[in-house]
Amino acid sequence: MTPPKTAETSVPVHPLLAQRWSPRGLDATHALDERAVQALLEAARWAPSANNSQPWRFLVGRRGDDTFTRLLGVLAPGNRSWAHAASALVLVAAQTVDDAGRPRPWALFDAGQAVAVLSVQAEADGLSVHQMDGFDTDAARHEFGLDAELTPLVVLAVGRHDPHAKLPDPLAARERASRSREPLEALLLAAPGAASRAA
Ligand SMILES: Cc1cc2nc3c(=O)[nH]c(=O)nc-3n(C[C@H](O)[C@H](O)[C@H](O)COP(=O)(O)O)c2cc1C
Repeated sequence: MTPPKTAETSVPVHPLLAQRWSPRGLDATHALDERAVQALLEAARWAPSANNSQPWRFLVGRRGDDTFTRLLGVLAPGNRSWAHAASALVLVAAQTVDDAGRPRPWALFDAGQAVAVLSVQAEADGLSVHQMDGFDTDAARHEFGLDAELTPLVVLAVGRHDPHAKLPDPLAARERASRSREPLEALLLAAPGAASRAA
């Protein structure tokens, strides 16, 4: 059974943010309907982006369909060992060059924001998202015929958390581990010459 994973914050943050985490134990019987998938993609679609360039692209497979099986096939074995139970796998790519051939320097940043809001929407809908960079990007390019302008970034495992799911070691232990973060102070840069201010 997974212990509580809610973030311990110095001041309250929105429950959707505090409760979001990345489980590997997913309910292999849960199915996502079309509307649920659409809500996630809509949330991502309305993310902010540099110059409203919207460089994010998504390839969605639902468990049981051909795209899901092919996405599962490009995952690193460690990820495949649990992500097979996801209700959907979503390949996220960024279009780093626009249609006129101009570079989009913020494309990766923008795609990350789209995934962040998608993850919060998932939490609001009772779903979990676990991002994975552990996949073979060349194999994904080849398998799905991705253009050179597209940079594959992550595969998302989307599903319903199952606290009783059986996981192989050492993943079972990691699932039970408490979540941690750097202290807030460690993230703050000091502006040279500025008077220090108590947080
Ligand atoms: C870009 C990115 C890549 C990640 N790749 C993997 C991965 O390949 N396999 C995995 O199990 N978790 C992966 N994770 C999940 C992180 O390990 C996880 O988000 C982090 O430990 C914080 O845990 P939390 O999301 O539960 O707060 C990835 C997360 C991100 C944002």
